[in-house]
Amino acid sequence: MQIGHPEIKDRLVAGAVLGIESSCDETAVALLAGDGRILDETVLSQTGAHAAFGGVVPEVAARAHLTHLAPLTEAVLAKAGIGSAAIAAIAATSGPGLIGGLIVGANFGKGLALAWGKPFLPINHLEAHALTARLPGLAEGGLAFPYLLLLVSGGHCQFVAVEGLGRYRVLGRTLDDATGEAFDKAAKLLGLAWPGGPALERLAAEGDPRAIALPRPLLGRAGCDFSFSGLKTALAQAVAGFPPGPLPRAAAADLAASFQAAVTDVLADRTYHALALFRDRHPGAANLVIAGGVAANQAIRAALTTIAARHGCRLIAPPLRLCTDNAVMVAWAGIERLRAGALGDLAHAPRPRWPLDAPDMALTPTPVA
Ligand code: KG4
Ligand code: ZN
Repeated sequence: MQIGHPEIKDRLVAGAVLGIESSCDETAVALLAGDGRILDETVLSQTGAHAAFGGVVPEVAARAHLTHLAPLTEAVLAKAGIGSAAIAAIAATSGPGLIGGLIVGANFGKGLALAWGKPFLPINHLEAHALTARLPGLAEGGLAFPYLLLLVSGGHCQFVAVEGLGRYRVLGRTLDDATGEAFDKAAKLLGLAWPGGPALERLAAEGDPRAIALPRPLLGRAGCDFSFSGLKTALAQAVAGFPPGPLPRAAAADLAASFQAAVTDVLADRTYHALALFRDRHPGAANLVIAGGVAANQAIRAALTTIAARHGCRLIAPPLRLCTDNAVMVAWAGIERLRAGALGDLAHAPRPRWPLDAPDMALTPTPVA
């Protein structure tokens, strides 16, 4: 047989896992070899379909996943040139997220699993974000447990001590809005289009971060919870101080810069506290990982790099495409679970809420006292 023959290729990548992501407004499919190499992946962002509504419309998102998942999967398999024989399992996000999209993605995965006679692995989306930085080649020298994760996206804002596979301790979380949500609401107040985070960062570059005094909620407080609603209200009041109509560009830029500086200060302070809490429990641990769409923000990355260094830690920020929602992280979580002996679970029902510290995240059930 020649090298490149499909059967030889199948053997070389044996243990490949197909990942499916459909928990929000990205339809994503990825195929990873058993060693974590990305064979092919694709992310279809639905931003265009939701922009006119100023946010994700669950029904629209679910229908779009339904339309796109099958052709995207066909394309990924064809591009990778991998047959179902080489695939060890199908992993699909099964929560938390918008239930319509979760049902579409999980049931699509279950269909493939049944047709191919492979295990179906229901994946917790937050676990997938949490494990991404362990992808081979991503962190120099690899990333061992335990490490501290700061997950900051449109829907999530929490510090998690990642102590092992399936062992997650939530150290702090937002009491109201998620960080990305706060950026999106602030951007809307400034007249920017949704999703507002990237647009607000661009506008902030033109402004003075000290121009408008905005509060830093919970700064210096014990623990590592967050709160953003007071900051958002303060920004709304500052905007209301201008005459009605579109804000002058310079004023909008100053407001954007001041808002971004306040969020950055809060994240830096909360991270400083979270690292102290984490290191009390794990004195030798020295890795801080940031994930989620807000990790794209350069001011925030810079501030966290400084805070990590002050604690003698390194900051690991996966490339942006792996920070935002994608299916590579879902397939990788599947590989980690397969390696740890996880079995398939065709009966698993998708869940809109599924905290990382839920009892069923543990690989072996903890005995009831
Ligand atoms: O992780 P993600 O792609 O989707 C989920 O929410 O799960 O995160 C999207 C969020 C949005 O709220 C977006 O405004 C925010 O991340 N975001 C940013 C930046 N890029 C994306 N926030 C601040 N600065 C950015 N550069
Ligand atoms: Zn996400």
